Amino acid sequence: MSVMCQHRPMRYRRMPIEVESPEELGYDTITNNLSESSVADRKLSDLGLDLDLDSLVLCYGDHLGDPLLRESIAAGGAGLRPEHVVVTPGAATALFCVATALLDPGDHIVVVRTNYATNLETPRAIGAEVDIVDLRYEDGWRLDIDEVAAKVRPGVTKLISVTCPHNPTGTMLTTDELRRLVGIAERSEAVLLVDETYRDLTHTGERIPLAATLSPNVVSVSSMSKAYGLPGIRIGWAVTTDPMLGETLLAAKEQVVICGSTIDEHIAGRVLADRKRILPPIVADVRERLAVVERWMAGQDTFEWVRPSGGVVGLVRFRPEVSVDEAAFHRRLLADHGTYVGPGHWFEVDDRHFRLGFGWPTHAELSAGLEALVAAAQM
Ligand SMILES: Cc1ncc(COP(=O)(O)O)c(C=O)c1O
Repeated sequence: MSVMCQHRPMRYRRMPIEVESPEELGYDTITNNLSESSVADRKLSDLGLDLDLDSLVLCYGDHLGDPLLRESIAAGGAGLRPEHVVVTPGAATALFCVATALLDPGDHIVVVRTNYATNLETPRAIGAEVDIVDLRYEDGWRLDIDEVAAKVRPGVTKLISVTCPHNPTGTMLTTDELRRLVGIAERSEAVLLVDETYRDLTHTGERIPLAATLSPNVVSVSSMSKAYGLPGIRIGWAVTTDPMLGETLLAAKEQVVICGSTIDEHIAGRVLADRKRILPPIVADVRERLAVVERWMAGQDTFEWVRPSGGVVGLVRFRPEVSVDEAAFHRRLLADHGTYVGPGHWFEVDDRHFRLGFGWPTHAELSAGLEALVAAAQM
């Protein structure tokens, strides 16, 4: 039996970012956890919501998702209605539903790399033809829209997949760039997927539109995990104004889970309804942390990065002139300094790069972790 299994082709393989995640390693094995991509995880009691979970009826819920939650999500985009929203167990499930709904083996998708790993991995698992647009440090990690346009095949490409604010670089599209991508999708009859999981955490003045409000060719995906520090309630969503696509995403969701968790959706609905109170202190704290990392970055000459414009992560790299055994660096960083970052191979770049998460650790752990990076880089 086990021998047979070894030779049976399997559709899914575990991604390094999941195998090597801090929760799989054990949070107690890391002192300064700079590998996370969210703000600090919250307890229910931190939210100040006076929740009455005891009286909730644990029934199958509305298949699209709790109506009050969908109302709050729809309120985030001009002209959106609750029926445009499909709530899913995390943005990860929304991304999975979008990919499986739109892609067959051999179908053409244009996707950005680096990226949140699932955005690359699920199309590959399906057997799609994955056409990659690589981001370059020298371009400030900015997406080259012309390169996307050149790769899209009108009438053939099924999906164009981008992430904004971007994980792991923290860069953002401008409204103009987003509109250009929407135009490319419309002209080529492709769907534009915009992973907006970090939408509520931006550090520039510009608030770009929720992408799905711009065209029925667009699906926006987002989540409660990152900005609100609530990955444990597993709440994400997909938004589209295309009724056929919305129904297909609902059908995909129903085949996986029928409906979401009554408890999770209730909590998420209460949080989003109160986001004017809950979000501002989180954003203020994240910006303070970003300033701490910027000061540290300016005070050393081993590493460089492009300052993130959104989110709580940035992609740092060793300066080209610094020679280092990167495997030994990452080993020393954890073993000798109790510090963990997301190595480049999580994002299909070399381990001279790493994702630095500045939103999750305590302020003291963040500072200690930054000092540890410099110390671990000394041979
Ligand atoms: C860009 C992006 N999209 C989606 C996800 C998945 O988030 P979740 O499933 O917790 O909502 C993540 C998590 O790291 C992410 O960074």
